[in-house]
Amino acid sequence: MPNNLLIQGPDKGVLLLTLNRPEALNALNTALLGELAAALDAAEADPATRAVVITGSERAFAAGADINEMAARDLVGILEDPRVAHWQRLARFPKPIIAAINGFALGGGCELAMHADILIAGENARFGQPEINLGIMPGAGGTQRLTRAVGSALAMHLALTGEQISAQRALQAGLISEICPTELTVERAISIAETIASKAPLAVRLTKEAIHKASDLDLAAGLRFERHAFTILAGTADRAEGLKAFQEKRQPKFTGC
Ligand code: HXC
Repeated sequence: MPNNLLIQGPDKGVLLLTLNRPEALNALNTALLGELAAALDAAEADPATRAVVITGSERAFAAGADINEMAARDLVGILEDPRVAHWQRLARFPKPIIAAINGFALGGGCELAMHADILIAGENARFGQPEINLGIMPGAGGTQRLTRAVGSALAMHLALTGEQISAQRALQAGLISEICPTELTVERAISIAETIASKAPLAVRLTKEAIHKASDLDLAAGLRFERHAFTILAGTADRAEGLKAFQEKRQPKFTGC
């Protein structure tokens, strides 16, 4: 039984995925990324999963791609790397992902965190793109998502020096949205995910998609997408229920329709 990834739930709409390679600080090898991709395939198909929390251990969210595995791959091996498809799986997952980050989030670990829609971190979290120390560079979005998140000055600084930043600096730079006491990070992420899971799923899905468009499209095209998505929601039963519940001063009962 593969156990590089621990899967718990869904409970109250939330699936908890815990990276589990403590001996390698959760370095992302093909097996672990494959298990993560498979878990997301199942989570996408399961209406009982409304949001996903990804976490690691208190010592490390993930210390990067597995360097030993990478060292065994030549140019053709990298070109045909099965991990690329696993990263793409993460990137196109339609439900919200919350990363609960404690300890090291370096290289591919930082890139994994940046695949999440909401990033929260423990006080001990350390972020960085240290690939430059290995004579390589980020390869799973580090130059693109980090730059979009924190701007080019800090992205350049991190990716060109390999230096790490603290959770406090990551918060200040806009990479994460919240810092928690380390031992409470996962609990807090689950609580955020449960809040999201209680909302209308189609509205959640389109909101996530629209916010991603803000990085992908120019403003006019992004606004058009937003308006179309807003209009589509007008055809949903959950919209009617949400508005009616407000008028009747009660909690809405969303069904995902
Ligand atoms: C494989 C790793 C690893 C990694 C740590 N380990 N990081 N194994 N791949 N990325 C292993 C160590 O070899 C060691 O195993 C064990 O985990 C504990 O690590 P230590 O180094 O002893 O711990 P510590 O002294 O606390 O230092 C922690 C650390 C350091 C600062 C995080 O481990 C480190 O610098 N790791 C590499 C970080 C990195 O360069 N990441 C980027 C990778 S490239 P043993 O068996 O010796 O106990 C990348 C490219 C992404 O991510 C591209 C995506 C397509």
